Amino acid sequence: RRRRRGASGHLRGQRVKCRVCRGPAVIDLPRHNANFCPEHFTRFCRDQVERAISDFDMMQPEDRILVAVSGGKDSLAVWDLLLGLGYAADGLYIGLGIGDYSDTSGGYARRFAQQHAEPRGAKLIEIDLVDDYGYDIPGGARAARRTPCSACGLSKRHLFDRAALDGGYDVLVTGHNLDDEAAVLFGNVLRWQTDYLGRQRPVLPARDGFPRKVKPLVRLSERETAAYCIVSGIDYLVDECPMSAGNKHLGYKEALNEIEVRSPGSKADFYFSFLRRAVDRFAPEPAGIDTEPGTGDADRADPGVLAPCARCGSPTSTEVCAFCRLVERAGGSPPDAPPARPVTLGRRGGPDPTGTPSP
Ligand code: AMP
Ligand code: FES
Ligand code: ZN
Ligand code: ZN
Repeated sequence: RRRRRGASGHLRGQRVKCRVCRGPAVIDLPRHNANFCPEHFTRFCRDQVERAISDFDMMQPEDRILVAVSGGKDSLAVWDLLLGLGYAADGLYIGLGIGDYSDTSGGYARRFAQQHAEPRGAKLIEIDLVDDYGYDIPGGARAARRTPCSACGLSKRHLFDRAALDGGYDVLVTGHNLDDEAAVLFGNVLRWQTDYLGRQRPVLPARDGFPRKVKPLVRLSERETAAYCIVSGIDYLVDECPMSAGNKHLGYKEALNEIEVRSPGSKADFYFSFLRRAVDRFAPEPAGIDTEPGTGDADRADPGVLAPCARCGSPTSTEVCAFCRLVERAGGSPPDAPPARPVTLGRRGGPDPTGTPSP
């Protein structure tokens, strides 16, 4: 249930004022008990991202950052926000070969790069599954007998890691927002997936040939990132991936939204209280490698011992990594197998940096 928004300064038919400047408000945020004009809403989003970065020690000003961009609102918003905060952040777009959806999403990512990123000295790196690896997600999923989302998640994670390390980036950023993280947490709690729960943090430190991965949008909801794009003049792909219809996480998001309408702030409380009070009670897997918490992937064979993949050199616990097995089954081929990577590549490894956030 969306609140009705009318012309500037009219929310639910009432004239409302920006909390900061008392000018006409364009968005109400019940969770923060606040309304904002476009300028102060933009500042609010930037503050939330800055706060997430510092609370969780996500990155340093001198870091080289790679932002995975899909052409959707979240990833374009986070790229824009990081550039606005002065970070050196390039983009990475992966063409997944999902018909018109991929063609369109690539167009949005490229347009953003031309209009908003290149003028600020950043570039977009592109990888195309069909051109570079000889398969697409629907075909790969069929050949490997995986669901499309599982084949897609596996491919994306592998290519994100590889692009970040090959390009010498310190950090890989994704556009996961508060709704995403709360929905994944909800799913993991429903099934008490304790191994995933131990790793569900907004920062995964670099280690063993994997780059540091961070989610700077955890303090912003989906509705807020969409509004950020609109007030910032960022054109984004509204459509969801056609393969994700019926996805369990969509149901969890709806359930959480129902709760949020009745008691604003519940979603943030659920997620941030988990990080403050519960995540440390679940032991992380020693090397949760080919999976993302909550994706239900079963590529975690014996996570203790990692050695370079015989095909691509990425760290894996099996002789050939799950990505290379997928490519082989789909009848594709990796472009060139680089030499085995040294095992410690992360420049900023070290202890888990997750701090103690407050909602
Ligand atoms: P999703 O799993 O589709 O919800 O996407 C989560 C995050 O992964 C997005 O916010 C992006 O940062 C990244 N991402 C998704 N699809 C792509 C893509 N095709 N290319 C690059 N990054 C992507
Ligand atoms: Fe990967 Fe839809 S974006 S299956
Ligand atoms: Zn204002
Ligand atoms: Zn491999």
